[in-house]
Amino acid sequence: MKSDIEGFFGKYGGRYIAEALRPSLIELDEGFKRYINDPEFLKEFNYILKNFVGRPTPLLYAENASKELGGADIYLKLEGLANTGAHKINNAIGQALLAKRLGKTRIIAETGAGQHGVATACACARVGLECAVFMGEVDIARQRPNVFWMEMFGAKVVPVTSGTKTLKDAVNAALREWSERSVDTHYLLGSALGPSPFPDMVREFQSVIGKEVRKQFAEYRNGNPDYMVACVGGGSNAIGFFNEFLGDRNIRMIGAEAGGISDAPGKNACRIAGSIGKLGIVQGYKSIFLQDDDGQLLSTHSISAGLDYAGIGPQLAYLAEIGRIEFRSIRDNDVLGALKFFARTEGVIAALESAHALAAAMKLAKEIGRGKTIVVNVSGRGDKDIFITAGAMKDPNWIEFLKTESKRYE
Ligand SMILES: Cc1ncc(COP(=O)(O)O)c(C=O)c1O
Repeated sequence: MKSDIEGFFGKYGGRYIAEALRPSLIELDEGFKRYINDPEFLKEFNYILKNFVGRPTPLLYAENASKELGGADIYLKLEGLANTGAHKINNAIGQALLAKRLGKTRIIAETGAGQHGVATACACARVGLECAVFMGEVDIARQRPNVFWMEMFGAKVVPVTSGTKTLKDAVNAALREWSERSVDTHYLLGSALGPSPFPDMVREFQSVIGKEVRKQFAEYRNGNPDYMVACVGGGSNAIGFFNEFLGDRNIRMIGAEAGGISDAPGKNACRIAGSIGKLGIVQGYKSIFLQDDDGQLLSTHSISAGLDYAGIGPQLAYLAEIGRIEFRSIRDNDVLGALKFFARTEGVIAALESAHALAAAMKLAKEIGRGKTIVVNVSGRGDKDIFITAGAMKDPNWIEFLKTESKRYE
């Protein structure tokens, strides 16, 4: 499913930007439409996905977990086994290659938790482009390991000191920089949101996930899965996973949002589930946002840094409105429970973001019962979260380890 000629999915999407950015977006739109059907471009993209990213990622039948839950059969698409540990690299490679074809020599990106920054820096190292990643000062302090890896890949991490010094300020800073310097620079946006053509472009580069699932599921079972579940931050792993199957009306699709610690504003990041999100225009596109009465973005909370965003991609907002995708709110505690359960039963350590989808699937498996099937997109692996996960589990040995490590540097 593509947006209409103006970049809308129903009433969501579009291109609400300053005049200075218009030429860059038009150039990008034309370039994307040209290269996404160009056999030479696709050959290079697929070559890198195979030989560098490590695609196809496996689809695992989670036999032990399914048996223990006593309900539906669960299958796991293991995107965490892609290079850099998450699906983000698919889009980063696609856009880096496109930028090169458009004659750009430099990439800028925004990052919050650092995952998209790491994927972008990695893609730039591979493809041979200069890279600068805008990151809020607060995020730089709390995501030091990702900053370390970005710099290792040769990227410059640019601290953003305005506003709350977090993701939304990083996006604004990157957009500002792009409007001033687009001749040699491409803005590599990390999720299926922002002004058109980003939602279409990110979906296309991520849709390899769903295409692989179709083939892989057919090797296990006849027909389609009954349910598909993915976590939803901005929406790139979800739309990349669901897109291939949108026309298969017998499949029910579930988006898992960050239910945080309560339903109160500021304590979660549910834009759709719980219906507290409102229609708005922010950062160049129209969608559902968590905002106050003055239209300012609300602060959000989630145990996972990657789902902690106040907006949702326009295509997913539209698919929610027409009832094609249902959304569920998943609390932090259930996320940790799902993480532990799949580590113990399957040896899979999911990213905290992906563990939202796993928690939703655990409940669903019991609800719908035996004989049914669920495919979950495990968008990333959880090694990156060790500081948050071990801290949240209050593991005394981990705390002791941190103290010993810090003493080593005194
Ligand atoms: C592993 C993982 N999954 C999901 C997300 C959420 O992003 P999106 O909704 O664009 O897939 C992130 C964001 O950083 C992530 O790192």
